[in-house]
Amino acid sequence: MVVIKLYVAITKGVCKSKKRLEGKTIIITGANTGIGKETALDLAMRGGRIILACRDLKKASLAKDDIVEKSGNSNVSIKKLDLASLDSVREFAADVLKNEPKLHILINNAGCAAIEKRRTVDGLENQMQTNHFGHFLLTNLLIGMVGLIEKTHVINVSADLSFLCRNLNLDDLNFAHDSTTGTLLAPLKIYGASKLCNILFSKELSNKLQSLAVTVNSLHPGAVLTEFGRFSIVANIFMRLFAPFLKSPKEGAQTTIYLAVADDVANVTGQYFRDCKIVKPSKLAQDAGIAKKLWEVSETIVQLKPLEKYF
Ligand SMILES: NC(=O)c1ccc[n+]([C@@H]2O[C@H](COP(=O)([O-])OP(=O)(O)OC[C@H]3O[C@@H](n4cnc5c(N)ncnc54)[C@H](OP(=O)(O)O)[C@@H]3O)[C@@H](O)[C@H]2O)c1
Ligand SMILES: *[C@@H]1O[C@H](CO)[C@@H](O)[C@H](O)[C@H]1NC(C)=O
Ligand SMILES: *[C@@H]1O[C@H](CO)[C@@H](O)[C@H](O)[C@H]1NC(C)=O
Ligand SMILES: *[C@@H]1O[C@H](CO)[C@@H](O)[C@H](O)[C@H]1NC(C)=O
Repeated sequence: MVVIKLYVAITKGVCKSKKRLEGKTIIITGANTGIGKETALDLAMRGGRIILACRDLKKASLAKDDIVEKSGNSNVSIKKLDLASLDSVREFAADVLKNEPKLHILINNAGCAAIEKRRTVDGLENQMQTNHFGHFLLTNLLIGMVGLIEKTHVINVSADLSFLCRNLNLDDLNFAHDSTTGTLLAPLKIYGASKLCNILFSKELSNKLQSLAVTVNSLHPGAVLTEFGRFSIVANIFMRLFAPFLKSPKEGAQTTIYLAVADDVANVTGQYFRDCKIVKPSKLAQDAGIAKKLWEVSETIVQLKPLEKYF
């Protein structure tokens, strides 16, 4: 026990950059709690304009008040974003495109874990849409705003549990024909797939953006004590059992913050990070062919319109 605790303490990455963010606009999805909220607080303390993109405006408003009070930065806004609805993503993006002159950092942090298989209003699998398709659409809609003039960064909070996914069925991304339905671990399998998609998406996006001053990276925050386990018995038991060894949300936010501000990664793109260091994701996550196909299939699934296409 002590050994594990010591190991976590020694290996955990900390962002040491003192970079200020005055004049920069940052969007963070799922910023009302957990890792997203801690990231928002840290970046607010650096003087940036922070947009909390949340599905529950009541919770978001409480988080905003707390962030403003602790940081002394009142340039914090909330905007409604439900990633499990394609309409909501389009409305959110339209609002940002209309009302924000610039976007410098997009942090795709929101996520849900190990929830029972469930269909969204769009008929897609809930975890896949929240974690992958919703962010895929959001990033496509906003990418035109970033990187043309100044250096910008897109950051994807993935997870090491992406290793769980050994075989991504591109013909059944919404798990309509998956045979493992009903077993206790089935929701975790979908979570793993959605997080694998995060890494593959980041990789392909970074390829597409090579000529622009945009970096795209993904990361594993570590095992972090957040509200993450609230919907899942398996995740809940894990969180309770291992609570003493988990990172705090503040510790869990360090790699995200690092990618947003640190000069040493200002030009690094297409990589996967853990504890503020580049690490290799699973073999599947490094497959450029699958990344490319996933992009095409995702375009069809979110019904990306010609006018919405940047690439
Ligand atoms: N905690 C860990 O150990 C761990 C490990 C690996 C990766 N991660 C990743 O870290 C990220 C943040 O997780 P966390 O641990 O901070 O979890 P959390 O405390 O549960 O926070 C998740 C956030 O995502 C939001 N969200 C969920 N569904 C949404 C939707 N449909 N539309 C918009 N927002 C939605 C939640 O909003 P509500 O409050 O309204 O539900 C909440 O703000 C996730 O991407 C997760 O996969 C976490
Ligand atoms: C908020 O931040 C934006 C972008 O950094 C900046 O242009 C704007 O002047 C700030 N507004 C206030 C009220 O500080
Ligand atoms: C993060 O992953 C989601 C799902 O794969 C993707 O749609 C989104 O655009 C990604 N963002 C970045 C910055 O790679
Ligand atoms: C990143 O690239 C820019 C120009 O493209 C350069 O001015 C800057 O020094 C580079 N930073 C690092 C840390 O390599």
